[in-house]
Amino acid sequence: MTSRPTYVGAIQAFNSYGAKMIGIEQDEEGTQTALLEAEIEKLAAKGSKPKFIYEIPDFQNPSGITMTLKRRKELLRIAEKHDLIVVEDSPYRQLRFEGKTEPALLGMNPDRVLGLYTFSKILLPGFRLGWMAGPNELIQKAVTAKQSVDLCSPPFNQSILYEFLHRGLLEKQISVIIKAYRRKRDFMLSMLSKYMPKLPGLKWTQPHGGLFLWVTLPETMDAGEMFHAAIERQVAYVVGTAFYPDGGGHNSFRRNFSYSSMAEIEEGVKRLGEVIGSWKGSQESAIMTP
Ligand SMILES: Cc1ncc(COP(=O)(O)O)c(C=O)c1O
Repeated sequence: MTSRPTYVGAIQAFNSYGAKMIGIEQDEEGTQTALLEAEIEKLAAKGSKPKFIYEIPDFQNPSGITMTLKRRKELLRIAEKHDLIVVEDSPYRQLRFEGKTEPALLGMNPDRVLGLYTFSKILLPGFRLGWMAGPNELIQKAVTAKQSVDLCSPPFNQSILYEFLHRGLLEKQISVIIKAYRRKRDFMLSMLSKYMPKLPGLKWTQPHGGLFLWVTLPETMDAGEMFHAAIERQVAYVVGTAFYPDGGGHNSFRRNFSYSSMAEIEEGVKRLGEVIGSWKGSQESAIMTP
């Protein structure tokens, strides 16, 4: 079970093993745990049970939403009640720009949570190094599975990373990127307010960290169809449907705010605003609302 939307790479990985994914709608507090519990109970009534719950609780890819403490507690209560493993995938956890850090699911219940973390977003993606923590039994299985796939992560990369960590340089790096990404996030939000047309239902998330924000268009609009018009204006986004494990998300897309320069962000958001404002469904949505 995953939230919907969720990380496209996880959807691909689960698909490659023939998994049947059940998506649970999320709101600004994260995965809606009441819906999650209802779905698990529905499965239980049919004598079925999910293999695990996959969750990205911090600055989720794609939405930028962070799960509240209340929802985290609820999620773990449900997992405990139904004897389920929770996979916590949290690559953006250290990239908090403001507010207080919520406890990691792994820390809240180390016996039930398998935590996945990576150096890709806080140091560099090319090293392909991350770490995993959780119940020993699961870690042993993962080690064997990983060995059968790649024998071992490159020892050269591991040695460089070890030295970097050992010298205490990661903390410095993280504080540098937090400052840079916070400025970009602030700027993209202000550009969205400035250039997006005023349409009923058009909204975007206000992430407190991470790399992404999520734009929801009026229901009548299709981000997939509009993509070609955006590309003609040389602006790209990732179409929302890619992040839906079981269909949906036609009127949404993901924006990354960390990569582009300030000038590119301004020009990109401006062009996107023009594309959205002139797209056919936008007129319909304005007419539908009195
Ligand atoms: C939620 C999530 N999990 C995992 C990954 C992959 O991380 P890595 O580069 O370590 O493979 C990403 C990268 O985008 C991600 O957003």
